[in-house]
Amino acid sequence: MKTTVKRQRDLHFGKGVHPSALVKSLEPFHETDFGAAYLCDSERVLADMPDRSANLIFTSPPYALHFKKAYGNVEKHEYIEWFLRFAKQFKRVLTDDGSFVLNIGGSYNKGSPTRSVYHFKLLVALVEEVGFHLAQEAFWYNPAKMPMPAEWVTVRRVRIKDSVEYLWWFSKTPHPKANNRNVLRPYSADMIRLNKRGVLETVRPSGHNITSRFTDISSGGSIPPNVIDDSDAESMLRLGNNSANDYYTKCCKRDGVKIHPARFPAALPEFFIKLLTDKGDLVYDPFAGSNTCGAVAERLGRRWLASENVEEYLIGSRYRFDEAAMVNGNGKSSVLVSESK
Ligand SMILES: C[S@@+](CC[C@H](N)C(=O)[O-])C[C@H]1O[C@@H](n2cnc3c(N)ncnc32)[C@H](O)[C@@H]1O
Repeated sequence: MKTTVKRQRDLHFGKGVHPSALVKSLEPFHETDFGAAYLCDSERVLADMPDRSANLIFTSPPYALHFKKAYGNVEKHEYIEWFLRFAKQFKRVLTDDGSFVLNIGGSYNKGSPTRSVYHFKLLVALVEEVGFHLAQEAFWYNPAKMPMPAEWVTVRRVRIKDSVEYLWWFSKTPHPKANNRNVLRPYSADMIRLNKRGVLETVRPSGHNITSRFTDISSGGSIPPNVIDDSDAESMLRLGNNSANDYYTKCCKRDGVKIHPARFPAALPEFFIKLLTDKGDLVYDPFAGSNTCGAVAERLGRRWLASENVEEYLIGSRYRFDEAAMVNGNGKSSVLVSESK
């Protein structure tokens, strides 16, 4: 069931081609001005993609926990082997200044109030076996996570609620393309007040010099921390991934289409797409689900590729590209200052 959404827009492909031209042996399930989504195992899309063709791979694979449920009783070490097959291809298809950002959650060991270290083993393997550099770790603060496992958190009350997931930023070389000016946050009221009042130059006990140079607020915003969260009530709603009222969810409910159960908020791909790519660059999400990432890339004028092996998730993903969703239905971005270029 192929669909195409084309709009009359200025396309900023730069030197690039439409992404469907990179996946020669497959027909897209869904195609837009900037991208193409494929209904298949990502290995098939990766096999077609030329070396050094993608600037950013941003993805959230099934975590080991979910992997077990959906794909049989696979042990966590098998998960790492499974994932490395894809990761080797990710490295091949990335440009030399490209990045791979992995959203992954932790989990508990079965029947024990202790945490698995499988995701840390995966991180080490991605660096030591595949050869990625760890550019930086970031965290997604997700206050909407359930207090699980119930046995330890809500029944025996011996563990606390997990509220973060990892966002590991890997790069192919030590110097990936990145510009933090594109993700500046609005200055806090305190910072604006300080700027008006003026700063007392001092040396902190830590040895850091506090000079007035760092309080110049004419540069457009403050450098964001590596915790991707929101500080105001309105955006808290947006960052949780349980929004019942966004355009995608409403359309799925209206048409009886299965809602993807493990979506990430648009703010996550938006942050890294702005930080790590330019207009016209290619962003690929190999475990696309409802294709949140592709829709954000489209809205930001980046080319995109997506692959997902469950048809019902791709059916719902098409709502994300409706004109109404493009305006604000994929999640607004008021925490972030608009791009500098
Ligand atoms: C955590 S979900 C991604 C959700 C997505 N970030 C969103 O916002 O909707 C992971 C997805 O990977 C898909 N998947 C798992 N193995 C796959 C494979 N080998 N090829 C393509 N998709 C796969 C699953 O069906 C699932 O929808």
